[in-house]
Amino acid sequence: MAFLADSLSRIKPSPTIAVTTKARELKAAGRDVIGLGAGEPDFDTPDHIKAAAQAAIERGETKYTAVDGTPELKAAICAKFERENGLALEPSQITVGTGGKQVLYNALMATLNPGDEVIIPRPYWVSYPDMVLLAGGSPVFVDASIDRGFKMRPEDLEAAITPRTKWLIFNSPSNPSGAAYGRDEVAAITGVLMRHPNVWVLSDDIYEHLVYDGFGFSTPAQVEPALAERSLTLNGVSKAYAMTGWRIGYGAAPVELIKAIAKVQSQSTSNPSSISQAAAVEALNGPQGFLLDWCMVFAERRNLVVSMLNQAAGLACPTPAGAFYVYPSCAELIGKTTPDGQRIENDGDVAGYLLEAEGVAVVHGAAFGLEPHFRISYATSTEDLTEACTRIQRACAALS
Ligand SMILES: Cc1ncc(COP(=O)(O)O)c(C=O)c1O
Repeated sequence: MAFLADSLSRIKPSPTIAVTTKARELKAAGRDVIGLGAGEPDFDTPDHIKAAAQAAIERGETKYTAVDGTPELKAAICAKFERENGLALEPSQITVGTGGKQVLYNALMATLNPGDEVIIPRPYWVSYPDMVLLAGGSPVFVDASIDRGFKMRPEDLEAAITPRTKWLIFNSPSNPSGAAYGRDEVAAITGVLMRHPNVWVLSDDIYEHLVYDGFGFSTPAQVEPALAERSLTLNGVSKAYAMTGWRIGYGAAPVELIKAIAKVQSQSTSNPSSISQAAAVEALNGPQGFLLDWCMVFAERRNLVVSMLNQAAGLACPTPAGAFYVYPSCAELIGKTTPDGQRIENDGDVAGYLLEAEGVAVVHGAAFGLEPHFRISYATSTEDLTEACTRIQRACAALS
């Protein structure tokens, strides 16, 4: 009898975490490595948020809380959804978890039966398919390739829907492409869903605030209010407030699903950290002005990286509207040979070559389901980005 569960053989460890770990190890071993793999802002959590956490400790808010979030945080989340997304919600329609990742995981665990299908546009965030598989469901992919601006076409979504379809996972702005759907594009997607009343939408809005050039963010339940009764609108403080380590994510959904998620959470982790919840209240209710400053910095870095990558021989990099990633195509590098005689067969080889030859850590596109590409996170200093892109240009020029 095997000791490890069969379900584990269906999934793989997160490739993005693997790249970050590898870059860290090489650095520790003395190599000059620039890591462009991490999916987190390089800014520090703002001081007023840290102060709120300290005040919560002083007040003794160090005990268990309600399993799926304190009343204060649920109220702050309701206010956020009303203010920013025009969604009128009750606290009973809100769940809080240990990161958006846990809310997503619990929702899939709470709803999937063997054979249930979940539509995932690709490229996708690495965790979506594996979480679906772990929960016993079957991922069904819809292509969102570079020539479509990395966005799924409504007709392709419609063609992928079957009687077994339970969810569409929708992620805008996207990890890894940074592509973001405008209001009309969201409406085209919700239009399809309105014709299929058994399909729910899980809208992962975690990059909502990281949008550039005046892009207007919209979420499906806002664009099509009738869809709210089968939507899980997922968000969190990790990316917008530089709070990845605090682990607070949240979701809005019909009460029945919120209760099911709480049931899973009550028998696994119980409440997210009480201190982090107090910090998240301040993040959502406190001043928001710094977000604009951060977005200006991110937009400048994005422009720098896009421009430098497009000057690298064999790379083609569109300009994304949001998140802090670019997802260049490296199709023209496939079939070339490195200076030490290795043939580049796929984007994994490209990523390996960039790391070995120039000490630049990127994540290969196969990890996100769309090849041949690689993902760069530009949530790092302008100096490092300039140096990394110079090295990438040099590495590309050295291929024959
Ligand atoms: C698309 C997407 N969704 C959700 C998450 C989860 O974020 P967290 O669990 O930190 O809230 C991430 C983090 O990388 C992400 O990229």
